[in-house]
Amino acid sequence: MKDKILVIGGAGYLGAVLVENLLRRGYSVRILDSFIYGKKAVEKYTGDKRVEVINGDIRNIETVNNSMEGIGSVALLAAVVGDPASKARPEQTVETNYLAAQVVASSAKRSGVKKFIYASTCSVYGVGSEMLDEQAPLNPVSLYAKTKISSEESIMSIAGGDFSPVIMRMSTLYGFSPRMRFDLVVNTMTMTAFTGGRITVFGGNQWRPLLSLEDAADAYIKVLESKMQMNGGKIYNVGSEEQNYIITDVAKLVAEGIKKASGKDIPINIEGDSTDARDYRVTFKKIQAELGFTVRSTIPNSAAEIWSKLESREIDDPKRKIYYNHYFDASEELIG
Ligand SMILES: NC(=O)c1ccc[n+]([C@@H]2O[C@H](COP(=O)([O-])OP(=O)(O)OC[C@H]3O[C@@H](n4cnc5c(N)ncnc54)[C@H](O)[C@@H]3O)[C@@H](O)[C@H]2O)c1
Repeated sequence: MKDKILVIGGAGYLGAVLVENLLRRGYSVRILDSFIYGKKAVEKYTGDKRVEVINGDIRNIETVNNSMEGIGSVALLAAVVGDPASKARPEQTVETNYLAAQVVASSAKRSGVKKFIYASTCSVYGVGSEMLDEQAPLNPVSLYAKTKISSEESIMSIAGGDFSPVIMRMSTLYGFSPRMRFDLVVNTMTMTAFTGGRITVFGGNQWRPLLSLEDAADAYIKVLESKMQMNGGKIYNVGSEEQNYIITDVAKLVAEGIKKASGKDIPINIEGDSTDARDYRVTFKKIQAELGFTVRSTIPNSAAEIWSKLESREIDDPKRKIYYNHYFDASEELIG
């Protein structure tokens, strides 16, 4: 029988898709989450023997220690995620993303887990003109990115013996999830095309690496199933060079996907400057060479899928606060 994987933050945008993929692959899963954005993504597992759900906060040491019992490997995804969310709740960001992440890693080490996979982000690079590899200087432009760097460092500092953490510096994610987010660039553009009939791009020349949820989940499975020795820990950029895009091109690809799904031509407006300072291109040679990781999904296909879910009303009002991390809200209330 395959291991039980502890997915911390398993009710979140990436967590929900990772859990689905792990189950499909034959793993059993324990989800630990405080359900900031609701429980919708995990409700379908009621009565499913392969999935155990713990409602708890990683800032509670006892909850963390108890959650490790009988676990093969751990994926730590829980965090205050995104620059605007970290700005809105700085204390909660430091407590969760930095302090609690150290507690979780130490607890996992003590429990002797096989793999400890930490969700970091390419946002740690912030701004850079070269193609950035894992050794490139870090240039965080938000508290979110700063806390991710600090926790990477503290997790790597306890690597050794049988404890081999794997840091996943993921590109900006896109695609449909049972716990949807509309505060991520591809998803936002698809949503605004649906609700307002157009895509507005601010600035547009800034570079950003992108990665679908399905491909991100696949990278996690590649790490779990790799036979490679990861002594001392590993850091990987997760994404693909062909999906480093400038934002204007992301808008064109979203419009292409919508055209495919609906036949509609969506106009793209380019306005002023971006309020988002991030601008970086990343190289993914290491994960490709060491784990054979390549991507399969594309932005047009994911935008088409999201459009169809909006059209069929499977996502029935994309303006709910629950879809935007900085509101910290699981209510039905709409954004202003
Ligand atoms: N979404 C992206 O584009 C992206 C890109 C790179 C890296 N990441 C990383 O991937 C991970 C998941 O991101 P996401 O987009 O799924 O975010 P998300 O906000 O949808 O999910 C985070 C989950 O963590 C839970 N959580 C938050 N604080 C908690 C706490 N103290 N205790 C227990 N649970 C808690 C939330 O309830 C939520 O379900 C994060 O660590 C993020 O930094 C995301």
